[in-house]
Amino acid sequence: QQQLKGRDFLSLHDLSSEELVYLVDLADEMKTLHKAGVTEQPLKGRTLGMLFEKPSTRTRISFETGIFQLGGTGIFLDGNDLQLGRGESISDTAKVLSGYLDGIMIRTFGHESVETLAQHATVPVINGLTDYCHPCQVLADLLTIREAKGGWSGQKLAYIGDGNNMTHSLLAGAAMTGMTISIATPEGYEPEPDVTEQAAATASVTGGCVELTTDPNKAVRQADIVYTDVWASMGQEKEQIARNRAFAGFQVNRKLFSSAKQDAIFMHCLPAHRGEEVTADIIDGSQSVVFQQAENRLHAQKALMTALMG
Ligand code: CP
Ligand code: NVA
Repeated sequence: QQQLKGRDFLSLHDLSSEELVYLVDLADEMKTLHKAGVTEQPLKGRTLGMLFEKPSTRTRISFETGIFQLGGTGIFLDGNDLQLGRGESISDTAKVLSGYLDGIMIRTFGHESVETLAQHATVPVINGLTDYCHPCQVLADLLTIREAKGGWSGQKLAYIGDGNNMTHSLLAGAAMTGMTISIATPEGYEPEPDVTEQAAATASVTGGCVELTTDPNKAVRQADIVYTDVWASMGQEKEQIARNRAFAGFQVNRKLFSSAKQDAIFMHCLPAHRGEEVTADIIDGSQSVVFQQAENRLHAQKALMTALMG
């Protein structure tokens, strides 16, 4: 029995490797039950506040339907509509919201904001994406990888593009599950060194491996999974043109993808920009699992909320 009740989920490193596997197993079970039409409502009467300071399709809708399916209610909170938008502190907001809610999911810019919220809230806080990491996405991605590949250990995941929030969570998730993660970024767009170091240390225990390169071909060679993300993340819109230039050689297209194993899968957290980081033939092709990833957000989030708020 895992002791996750009442805890926060700010990054994958808040979990042990065993707890991570437990959550993926629970997500898998909840998916099977959902598909069989079985209704279980462990969060009856509970309320999740969902605070957004950036747009969202998948995270918002999967958390909202997820809490509803579990018997509870989700409340969408726009950061600008709260007094937060007029300068009320995060710490006061955390204390006030804790009096009403049973859990808070937050999507924002700086990771420190989520840490401050968690520090002052007395209910579990879930990170729905910061500039630093996106752990909920990788929870769903680990389920998707296991469904497609049968397991994690020894799989090679090539990540091509920007060393961003997705890269940071993929580094942690791959290292914790014994995968090899090979990351190709242009110079100057590498993931943060402390995240890479922490992942390398974890990988040395799990049998995983972390590689960094500026050569996409090298990263993709013999890969089981090819993953990419947008070149300009939310909040970086003004850098789009400079980034399109910097990332020009980092598009996942037919030629690059053909260096991967023949049965490699293509992954993307979405939203995607066809013709930029990936071509349409790859993301819409038979080896793409992007919509399975998106669906698995629902099951992963239900598992997470059940474990933390149940
Ligand atoms: N992948 C993901 O988090 O999507 P949204 O931005 O739509 O939530
Ligand atoms: N790196 C992207 C991920 C979106 C889910 C962003 O932060 O915009």
